Amino acid sequence: MSVVLRNRVSSLLPDFPWDTIAEARARAAAHPGGIVDLSVGTPVDPVDPLIRDALASVSEVPGYPTTHGTPELRAAAVEALKRRYGITGLSPAAVLPVIGTKELIAGLPRLLGLGAGDLMVIPEIAYPTYEVGGLLAGCEILRADSLTQIGPRNPALIFINSPSNPTGKVLGVDHLRKVVSFARERGAIVTSDECYLGLTWEGRAPSLLNPEVCDGDFTGLLAVHSLSKTSNLASYRAGFVAGDPELVAELLEVRKHSGMIVPFPIQAAMTAALGDDAHESRQRERYRTRREVLRKALEGAGFRIDDSEAGLYLWATRGEPSRTTLNWLANLGILAAPGHFYGPAGAKHVRVALTAADERIAAAATRLTSA
Ligand SMILES: Cc1ncc(COP(=O)(O)O)c(C=O)c1O
Repeated sequence: MSVVLRNRVSSLLPDFPWDTIAEARARAAAHPGGIVDLSVGTPVDPVDPLIRDALASVSEVPGYPTTHGTPELRAAAVEALKRRYGITGLSPAAVLPVIGTKELIAGLPRLLGLGAGDLMVIPEIAYPTYEVGGLLAGCEILRADSLTQIGPRNPALIFINSPSNPTGKVLGVDHLRKVVSFARERGAIVTSDECYLGLTWEGRAPSLLNPEVCDGDFTGLLAVHSLSKTSNLASYRAGFVAGDPELVAELLEVRKHSGMIVPFPIQAAMTAALGDDAHESRQRERYRTRREVLRKALEGAGFRIDDSEAGLYLWATRGEPSRTTLNWLANLGILAAPGHFYGPAGAKHVRVALTAADERIAAAATRLTSA
């Protein structure tokens, strides 16, 4: 007898978006100068030796690691958040390592007990995993950038993402304060995905947990930090969530039972990465240079760049459907991500990642300039 899947969870979810650009990828790959893949924001520069040594230094340890992470890792996270982003008053107990932040985001609504009948608010143009998390939990999902769009309703969870993937837009202190006070009036949890907080090009990006935003009161607030982009640790799967001690304790409790544990050598690598700002700033400068080259070339080729004041992407448009732009770029051997991946409001943009080697970025610029 064959096995019967009674309820296919995958049927709740959209098509995996990257599978839908296979044709554009093949076209770009056929370029005689080779593909310049600017579609996925995956790091290409090597992991810093400081981090690799920390990983290797504990590779003989055989025992189970703890779900809450080592005291050293949590202390390093608290110190890094203070040094880098001015977050004060956070207790190491209110930090929880995660196996890359994507798994946390996809599981968060469920881990927080949300389900049918709960409203979850996500940005209009958003990293797709917020929606996935809501769908997996059975929530109703509302795409809204302004609080007035929520009307009189009481969301259970509001996701924000500043700097944004894909737009690079930064939410300022005033905006964040309004979100916090709205959420507190309505009894909502606010989760801020701060994956790109360390990659700002114009001005600064405040954290949800910054005292200017929350007055030092973390109640109902969670900040999600990935080490994938700022420390090139996408392959290690390394991130953490921090904020409201009660919410973090609840997440810890459920994750302990589920075996959601960051491997011990990765915890050691994360501790080293969080303790060192020099490798982070070297990486930021690499991206800054690539961003300038690409921005100039795209604008020269007739693109308008919107937002993009921070983060790892240029949010670019030629005022036409994103598929048309995707194909135009693919003919030049350049692969981007179509804006509609991120919501209907992205239908006329493409997202161009800064994550390619200098030589590939230069090749893209040359092709765009002669297009
Ligand atoms: C906005 C945003 N959040 C979270 C993630 C997930 O990062 P990771 O799972 O590598 O920590 C990404 C990855 O691209 C992202 O763009």
